[in-house]
Amino acid sequence: MGKFITFEGGEGAGKTTLIDSLKKYFDENNIDYIATREPGGVKVCEEIRNIVKYSTEEISKRAELLLFSASRAELTQRLIRPSLESGKIVLCDRYFDSTRVYQGFANGIDDRDVMSITNFATNGLVPDITFYLDIDPKVAFLRKGGQDKGDRIEERDLSYHYMVRDGYNKIAKNDPRFVILDATLSKETILEQVLQKLRTENIIE
Ligand SMILES: Nc1ncnc2c1ncn2[C@@H]1O[C@H](COP(=O)(O)OP(=O)(O)OP(=O)(O)O)[C@@H](O)[C@H]1O
Ligand SMILES: [Mg+2]
Repeated sequence: MGKFITFEGGEGAGKTTLIDSLKKYFDENNIDYIATREPGGVKVCEEIRNIVKYSTEEISKRAELLLFSASRAELTQRLIRPSLESGKIVLCDRYFDSTRVYQGFANGIDDRDVMSITNFATNGLVPDITFYLDIDPKVAFLRKGGQDKGDRIEERDLSYHYMVRDGYNKIAKNDPRFVILDATLSKETILEQVLQKLRTENIIE
């Protein structure tokens, strides 16, 4: 089996930047991997992504949770599991921890309900390692040039994004699967911390 590595954090925390640097490192070192993202990754999931992020219709909290979970069910079965079975490292930009904090914690849905839906959607697939990029949402929005208007989730009040950060810290501090990274450090330092962890876990040399 390959290793399943996920990247979490608020908007503009640096997830995509970090994954891009890792991809470059893996390419240069002939390490077999795939990189994907949530919601999205395969065509039907990108269609769901368009709905959950950009629909101008009202979507209830429970329906939002199920849409993210539906996308996850498809991506897990169609891409992530087969890639792991063929021995690849799978890098995923967001996974179910995002749903736990955005649709669960910050939207007032109980974590036990979220996890029961999640277990059904993923058939119990849990990441081997989750890198959580922690940053004050105000700082993150400043560095990405403001909140993306028109993105239903990103445009929510700052108080929502602080709840998201709170939620991440609560789950990350109590679970050894998480590595908490200070997202205000330089891109190079963060990449080195991630590579160091992957070496310690014998995922790379
Ligand atoms: N360690 C860092 N230090 C300073 N700036 C950074 C760092 N990492 C990323 N950035 C910058 O912050 C912005 C957001 O980064 P990025 O798009 O990688 O975040 P993200 O977590 O993928 O955001 P989103 O949730 O919106 O997809 C970009 O302009 C990026 O260049
Ligand atoms: Mg991103």
